[in-house]
Amino acid sequence: ASPRLTDRLGRRISYLRLSVTDRCDLRCRYCMAEDMRFLPNGDLLTIDELATLSEAFIRRGVRKIRLTGGEPLVRRGIDDLARAIGRHIGHGLDELTITTNGTLLDSHAEALAAAGVRRINVSLDSRDPERFRTITRRGDLADVLRGLDAAKAAGLAIKINMVALKGVNEDEIEPMLRWCAEQGFDMTLIETMPLGEVDEDRVDRFLPLDHVRTDLESRYTLAPLAHRTGGPARYSQVEELGVRIGFITPMTANFCDGCNRVRVTAAGEIFPCLGHEDAIDLRAALRSGQAEAIDAALDEAMAIKPERHHFRIAERSAAPTVRRHMSVTGG
Ligand code: GTP
Ligand code: 5AD
Ligand code: SF4
Repeated sequence: ASPRLTDRLGRRISYLRLSVTDRCDLRCRYCMAEDMRFLPNGDLLTIDELATLSEAFIRRGVRKIRLTGGEPLVRRGIDDLARAIGRHIGHGLDELTITTNGTLLDSHAEALAAAGVRRINVSLDSRDPERFRTITRRGDLADVLRGLDAAKAAGLAIKINMVALKGVNEDEIEPMLRWCAEQGFDMTLIETMPLGEVDEDRVDRFLPLDHVRTDLESRYTLAPLAHRTGGPARYSQVEELGVRIGFITPMTANFCDGCNRVRVTAAGEIFPCLGHEDAIDLRAALRSGQAEAIDAALDEAMAIKPERHHFRIAERSAAPTVRRHMSVTGG
């Protein structure tokens, strides 16, 4: 068997975040600029290539694959890809999952569930239709709600991802938590990260989650849980509501020590760290059709995986720490 992926610091890489497109039907203000340039279609890996590269990662010890975007459900053939990867569940792969904005879930939830997906993360920063439109610039909240219903009906476990935004949705954090409790969803709060030029200043929007937690603790009992998903969130049980809340705190409490993941873009570049610009091309190796070439590219990625990110949201109008947008790697 091929050696398991391990970086220079001895961190085992068991989680692949696979971006299947950099495109999205929304333009969330903290994620994208109004005007975005996307990869030409000719640069995209095919669905077959995405499946082949997933298999290469599974052979090297990856046990969890998350499909991301942009918005993964806008990619043609996504259900086929899920089915192809899903065949490995129980044979090396423990979990296939997806992070989606939910707008197209209505027409994909069944197929994803049939492919072996058991839980999904759905990004939802507001439950107010007008505010949702403002944040996403073009989204219709009703589509997402319909998508969530379809996902529930398909038996998928759901976690809501909410980026905490100062002056935008802070007043909705507690209502969102109560709503998640009612719906039987988990919820995760995320600190905004400085990737890519967007049209607003991240300093104005940054909300440190330690403050949010303290605030919630003045009203509820948050009991820390040992529950881990292999992702960066730290969970607590909100005793009074019977709901699990996760905190993703790249800015205030770095979690890089335990990093277990790499990302691949839709064009087949491996980004060993979300917070760095360095990438290794996998596409040429993939197109050579030689397993050794793919393995060599994976080893190269392990050799350059940095210790940690150095995200900074400090000065007004500072350039983002990382030039590419979050949508290139799906976070
Ligand atoms: P679970 O499997 O449910 O734990 O999902 P996840 O948190 O790993 O994935 P999701 O796609 O829901 O990502 C939630 C947020 O975590 C996104 O904003 C990601 O950008 C962020 N995130 C995931 N991995 C990393 C990481 O390695 N570093 C940083 N800084 N952020 C990450
Ligand atoms: N900082 C933090 N989270 C972000 N997301 C998109 N852009 C950013 C950013 N700059 C979130 C989305 C989604 C997840 C994959 O990443 O809202 O929930
Ligand atoms: Fe699209 Fe997600 Fe970025 Fe919003 S955060 S624009 S839904 S990729």
